[in-house]
Amino acid sequence: MTQQRPAAVIVLAAGEGTRMKSATPKVMHAIGGRTLLGHVVATARELDPQRLCVVVRHQGEAVAAHAQEVDGAVEIAWQDEVKGTGRAAWCAMQALESSGVLEGPVLVLAGDVPLLDSATLGQLLEAHAAGGNAVTALTTRVEDPTGYGRIVREEGTGLLARIVEERDASQAERAITEINTSVYAFDADVLRDGLARLTDPTSGATANAQGEVYLTDVVAIARETRPVRAVETDDAISVEGVNDRVQLAALGAELNRRTLESAMREGVTVVDPGSTWIDVTVTLEADVTLLPGVQLHGVTHAEGGAVIGPDSTLTDVRVGADAHVVRSHAIGAVLEAGVSVGPFAHLRPGTVVGPGAKVGGFVETKNAVIGAGTKVPHLSYVGDVTIGESTNIGAGVIVANYDGETKNHTEIGSHAFVGSDSVLVAPLTVADGAFVAAGSVVTRDVGPGDLAVARGQQRSIPGWVQRRRPQSASARAARDAAATAQAPPAQPAETDPTTEPQA
Ligand code: UD1
Ligand code: CA
Repeated sequence: MTQQRPAAVIVLAAGEGTRMKSATPKVMHAIGGRTLLGHVVATARELDPQRLCVVVRHQGEAVAAHAQEVDGAVEIAWQDEVKGTGRAAWCAMQALESSGVLEGPVLVLAGDVPLLDSATLGQLLEAHAAGGNAVTALTTRVEDPTGYGRIVREEGTGLLARIVEERDASQAERAITEINTSVYAFDADVLRDGLARLTDPTSGATANAQGEVYLTDVVAIARETRPVRAVETDDAISVEGVNDRVQLAALGAELNRRTLESAMREGVTVVDPGSTWIDVTVTLEADVTLLPGVQLHGVTHAEGGAVIGPDSTLTDVRVGADAHVVRSHAIGAVLEAGVSVGPFAHLRPGTVVGPGAKVGGFVETKNAVIGAGTKVPHLSYVGDVTIGESTNIGAGVIVANYDGETKNHTEIGSHAFVGSDSVLVAPLTVADGAFVAAGSVVTRDVGPGDLAVARGQQRSIPGWVQRRRPQSASARAARDAAATAQAPPAQPAETDPTTEPQA
């Protein structure tokens, strides 16, 4: 293994990205739950470089802040008003070498190439060291090279002679299908000296079709004295840059396909890869099953036997072993083993559902710690609440946590029973083994084993319909019912010994 630890990785992220037509800087658009720049910085970090520098300019404050949020050890270099990849690299070298001269290989990457992996970069570094190259460029072959810099190789040796941009290329050069990916390994001194020769650092004068300083021109300068080689990858999509939203979607789909494929190889069942989307930060154990229409985001983790879907979106959720989540939406929740959620549940941050507990249809939870075996099966809002074990919350129960000014907490014990359509007005305690009668509005604490009834007493007014709605269908139905009640009870058939006489 001749691969060296890079002296520095420089990530170019100062360009405008006009073709995105976006208020968001191009490198901050995301695929697979990470920004384009986030992918590149994470990959660069895997190479363990001594320095990691991101060059910014367009919306530079936002890009710089984001880069440092992704990786606290990132250094920022600002590109000045002179344009081009060469100027961007020059500004990075100025910033990096202000604290001492770099020695060894320096990798240059583009911030908009999200699928590039550290194994490919490792091979590039290895080839760079093994060949004693001044520069090693990562190249690939594409059917349509339009818009890319073309790789011009020397006849016989196959060494890289130069890289020519489309606009500056001859007819013959434009026919070349081997392209520059904008990923290179340079010896630090080659990069420093080459960039210095490219342009007068004060005037920024250049000699190409776009009036920009081209990093690619360092190749021909380096070749004057030392070998320059190309490492060709056949995985063209992994070195593709994002220029517009069509490419963003295409690379997003390819990243997702790769993420799902590796999950499946690790023992995850994905019933419909086409409708399943997983962030690169999600972790799934073997024997997790994902049904169609599932999106898993952030640091979501699922244990073996969990079944998620169909049609569920989980963000930063821990799904325990054998838990089932059906057609539900959850953020920042913990679901212990054997939990059942949905269909149509909405779990919000701070929800913890204990082992074997159930959160059913049309239930919303927030800051809700629900004990083992407890059931919240139907049509409830359960917020700012702690519920013990094996408690039953009836259909339509609302925990009223908000008094218009502050959110208050409700404590419900174990083996408690809250009747349907009750409102528990916080702050409130319903103790262990307590019951709440259906339809109650409970405002005072309920002691252990007590029954709270807090609703209007039922009153029946006999004959009201007959007097007030005598011609109505209701009145007729009531008269018929009264007549039937007065008729002698139906006699059981003598031939049927199993029939009991009616009271
Ligand atoms: C560049 C290469 C081209 C290669 C192509 C691959 C040059 C001159 N050309 O062309 O050979 O085939 O990438 O996609 O290098 N950037 C800056 N500052 C700038 C300009 C660009 O930081 O002043 C950054 C961009 O943010 C981007 C990267 O450099 O991350 C590439 O820039 P882009 O404008 O896309 O270069 P291309 O013209 O596509
Ligand atoms: Ca580009």
